[in-house]
Amino acid sequence: MKGIILAGGSGTRLIPLTRVISKSLLPVYDKPMFYYPLSILMEAGIKDIMIISSSSDLPRFIDVLGDGSQLGISLQYEVEPSPIGIAGAFLIGETFIGQDNVALILGDNVFGHNLGPLLKKAVSRSHGATVFGFPVDDPERFGVVSFNDAGQVNSIEEKPAEPKSNYAVTGLYFYDNRVVDIAKKIKPSARGELEITDVNKAYLEMGALHVELMGKECPWFDTGTPGSLLEAAVYVRQFEEEKGVKIGCVEELSFKKGFVSRDQLITLANSQTKSGYGKYLLRVANTKE
Ligand code: TTP
Repeated sequence: MKGIILAGGSGTRLIPLTRVISKSLLPVYDKPMFYYPLSILMEAGIKDIMIISSSSDLPRFIDVLGDGSQLGISLQYEVEPSPIGIAGAFLIGETFIGQDNVALILGDNVFGHNLGPLLKKAVSRSHGATVFGFPVDDPERFGVVSFNDAGQVNSIEEKPAEPKSNYAVTGLYFYDNRVVDIAKKIKPSARGELEITDVNKAYLEMGALHVELMGKECPWFDTGTPGSLLEAAVYVRQFEEEKGVKIGCVEELSFKKGFVSRDQLITLANSQTKSGYGKYLLRVANTKE
């Protein structure tokens, strides 16, 4: 399975923060925002990953993690010529995806801990699509999924004025290879975007849309506004201080997943020992399980 991190867009709700830098490079507490979505793909066992962003921002992403080999993964980069909508990722990434299934995650989505079991379920489905529903107070801001009495998916609507449920569709999606053809067929919406909700609707119509529901035990933040950006940072700090473990720590994950050896993790830690982040990596490397 391939993975795509979509980290382009306009970031207009975060101006002036995003005037000269991509939203996904902004900090969420102690690491760049895109570490969080990257860690989710790695947790799902995906090692072949493409990061999509603007031509001006891509060099900065490359500066942070390069080709990914130090993490035991492969990172490729592709330009989003202009923000054409989330489903545009499958057009930009068509050659990269090839004949494989693909997971897409948005560069500004921060998931808490505990997603592991749901990720396993999504990865194990080779057919159809899997999206994740999270209960929110303001569903009208999101894609919203609703269910019938039997718990089957009834509808999926983009930013409905009258939401049929309070389950927002998060920015993490798993698809079989048909997604590329589906994305090619959808038309831009009234706001001029290739909507991911239209892709999900196509899977729903084919009877191939699975929804995994997340609860409060696995928080989710879309960090697109100053308030939600701060909320995510506060959550991460609190969690990390209380539990003594990090969220979104890609070096630790690559070690735990067996993508790199203990010695390689020590090398990664040694390049950043001045920060608490680097010291944490050293602690992880020196802890015998
Ligand atoms: P959004 O938050 O919907 O859009 P945005 O990032 O352009 O921000 P704003 O609404 O404040 O102008 O995007 C969610 C994520 O998807 C974000 O990480 C950027 C990414 N994205 C793209 O890369 N290209 C696109 O065309 C769109 C719409 C989003």
